[in-house]
Amino acid sequence: MKLLVCGGAGFIGSNFVRQRVEEHGDEVTVLDKLTYAGRRENLEGVPHAFVHGAIEDPAAVAEAIEGAEAVVNFAAETHVDRSIAEPDAFVKTHALGTFVLLEGARERGLRYLQVSTDEVYGSIEEGSFTEESPLEPSSPYSATKTGADLLVQSYTRTFGMETVICRGSNNYGPFQYPEKLIPLMILNAFSGDPLPVYGDGQQVRNWLYVRDFCSGIGHVLAHGEAGEVYNVGGPDECTNLEVVERIVELTGADPSLITYVEDRPGHDRRYSLGSEKVRALGWEAQVRFEQGLEETVAWYRENPGWWEPIRSGDYREYYERQYGSSLG
Ligand code: NAD
Ligand code: DAU
Repeated sequence: MKLLVCGGAGFIGSNFVRQRVEEHGDEVTVLDKLTYAGRRENLEGVPHAFVHGAIEDPAAVAEAIEGAEAVVNFAAETHVDRSIAEPDAFVKTHALGTFVLLEGARERGLRYLQVSTDEVYGSIEEGSFTEESPLEPSSPYSATKTGADLLVQSYTRTFGMETVICRGSNNYGPFQYPEKLIPLMILNAFSGDPLPVYGDGQQVRNWLYVRDFCSGIGHVLAHGEAGEVYNVGGPDECTNLEVVERIVELTGADPSLITYVEDRPGHDRRYSLGSEKVRALGWEAQVRFEQGLEETVAWYRENPGWWEPIRSGDYREYYERQYGSSLG
């Protein structure tokens, strides 16, 4: 298959491109703006064509979409804390970007898959979200992702376009930018820096190994019904504190590095995603959290050449802004 993968230089997108090229023999063009989170190195050794540009730029979309049979859209601003500090780019990429890309796919009659998130449903104390759960996003990140989902669905209802939406739970694994909980804690543990836990650390996340999310997206791309939403959730749930304590054990770090800091505003307490609908398409998560976390710690240990340049660049400024006052 010939795929246009937008945001393919980011964490999940690059894992997806690698899986599609190596395991399915797909021909892939990546369209990516290369924001702070997008890196050409993430695709090293993976044959692909590359267009440097934004999904909200019709000329870049027209160039990249040439010859594609389907479009998969990962392109997004993805960090909740950044959406609280500076929401502008979230609105632009998720609203305008999704619109321009949808138009490009509609003009050419292409199948379109939107990569979305469980955060569109908000927080759930008990039980699990289904695809029918109300949309109650809490942050500018999740609100703009929700807007994008609704626009995608309108293109099927109004224009009969073949769209599908995949909503994933919290991903982890190789190539994740170290602003997110798991890589941030792993790298801080390696260097003996404080491990900043928001609030009481009892928030629950539903962890999904990145390659399992990628295979779920592949299943939905191949077998999902037009106009439908498919949740792709991880096999395990745990509190943030449990995750950090396990990272402390795996890295041999000093447990006294765990530091409670001010909570995130509007912080969702728990995510839990029911995945029965995508299971009915034949998908199943393969990697339990215990095993995936061990592999992830090992990957960061073995790849300082990937993360050292990130940690010494702009990331430092972000880190100071986000944590400086609470970590002293
Ligand atoms: P990421 O931040 O690692 O990568 C995002 C990529 O999109 C980067 O390569 C970036 O350069 C690119 N990008 C950003 N704005 C763009 C624009 N306007 N035009 C073109 N490219 C642009 O993100 P990720 O964690 O890999 O997430 C990928 C997708 O999966 C997102 O849509 C996100 O909402 C969704 N998602 C993420 C998770 C998770 O746990 N990380 C879970 C569920 C869903
Ligand atoms: O659920 C899917 C979502 O998962 C994706 O849509 C988002 O793109 C992705 O960023 C992620 O969102 P979260 O906000 O859940 O992920 P994050 O890694 O930022 O935080 C995970 C949990 O850990 C959350 O409860 C906040 C907490 N946390 C995070 C950081 C960065 C801390 O306690 N300390 C931290 O320093």
